[in-house]
Amino acid sequence: MSKDNTQRAVFATKIGAVAATVGSAVGLGNIWRFPYETGVHGGGAFIACYIVFVLVLGVPLLCAEFMLGRGTRSNILGAFRHSSPSGRYWVGTGYMVIIASVMILWFYSVVAGWTLGYCYDSVTGVIAGMDTADIGEHFAEMTSGWRNVVLTLVFLTANAAVLLGGVTKGIERASNLLMPLLFVLLLVLCVNSLSLDGLKAGLTFLFRPDFSKITSEVLLGAMGQAFFSLSIGMGCMTVYASYFNKDSRLGRTAMSTALLDTMVAILAGVIIFPAVFTYGFSPEQGPALVFQVLPVVFGRMPGGMIWSSIFFLLLIVASLTSTVSLSEISISYFSEDLKMSRRKATLVSTAIVMAGATICALSFGPLGGIEIFGLSLFDALDFVTSNICLPLAGLAISLYVGWVVPKKFTKDQMTDGGAYPFAWYGLLMFVLRWVCPVAITLIFLNSIGLI
Ligand code: TRP
Repeated sequence: MSKDNTQRAVFATKIGAVAATVGSAVGLGNIWRFPYETGVHGGGAFIACYIVFVLVLGVPLLCAEFMLGRGTRSNILGAFRHSSPSGRYWVGTGYMVIIASVMILWFYSVVAGWTLGYCYDSVTGVIAGMDTADIGEHFAEMTSGWRNVVLTLVFLTANAAVLLGGVTKGIERASNLLMPLLFVLLLVLCVNSLSLDGLKAGLTFLFRPDFSKITSEVLLGAMGQAFFSLSIGMGCMTVYASYFNKDSRLGRTAMSTALLDTMVAILAGVIIFPAVFTYGFSPEQGPALVFQVLPVVFGRMPGGMIWSSIFFLLLIVASLTSTVSLSEISISYFSEDLKMSRRKATLVSTAIVMAGATICALSFGPLGGIEIFGLSLFDALDFVTSNICLPLAGLAISLYVGWVVPKKFTKDQMTDGGAYPFAWYGLLMFVLRWVCPVAITLIFLNSIGLI
């Protein structure tokens, strides 16, 4: 069963492991996706559901993925195979998440490309000097042409460079250094937000939930966002946990990851929404939201050019630590199961992602006509992966860890082999066995209209 694979990379320090995990979780999901999903789904009610999902489904599923990863020290397929005698029947889930992780990278790296473009335009003073009226057009220009493709490919090249450099030093060091910086900058922007006229309207929108607005769509959206933001349901955290040390205290790591991740998302909301109401944007405009609102905020701040340059730079870094973790899912599969060298695995994975991301980038321009279920290719990829693949895989993982994996395995993992007590073990297993599967199934069936 659990095999000891000693040549595997291990994060050098405990803090490094947490930083890398938080680095995976904190990304565009918090700063770009969370605000726009909140805007689309009516504000406070969405956030309330989101927080409940993070606590009730997110933390337990993080623990489940951590257990599988650290207990088997292998990629997502091996994590199923080596954690229980009947694990091989669950390997199908592993294949699904490998494919879905690539699909997430297709649209994620396009947005990361925009952040590159915005960083460039910040440094050259374009963003800070822009008229509010021109912002929409600037965004359309940024996203509709070949520039979009070039930016996406540049970003993916940087992603490949980090991955080629190896897990431990590249990812761990960058996360350690830059995540705290991002946090500080978000706080500065928050303080700036406090001076805006729309502060009250923004905070009311965010924090005064109107529970009558909770529909099945809001629930599904909030659940998808919780999964997306915490990087769960994708084997991503499983792979990272396979690089954890023996004494990483999985329960604590899961809690701190969830807490920090949620804080960053809420801070992003506090930055965006007062500005949305101050400058008369519609909160419901979707993926363009952050990229339209932030330039106005920066444009009116003293020293806006500098702030916006630093901000977009950090956003690039936050995206990079997330795409690296997403890429690691397929790379660890290619190198361990298909026996490719790490270098070859990275190149193959990068090529596949680049091809799909190029098509996705063009869906804002020349390929704009392609629609899937009435959604653009970009929106469809986002919807299908976040709201369907992640919850389904989360369902499978909770059932598998709750019911199939032997108790000795799970208990060993949660207590670091008996070294620490873990008082929540019973509750955790109950939630994984019952609460997660029932909640995910109900929300899912409800949203597709079956109940
Ligand atoms: N959580 C990251 C973000 O918020 C994105 C991400 C990284 C992710 N790895 C993942 C999403 C695995 C789903 C599954 O930006």
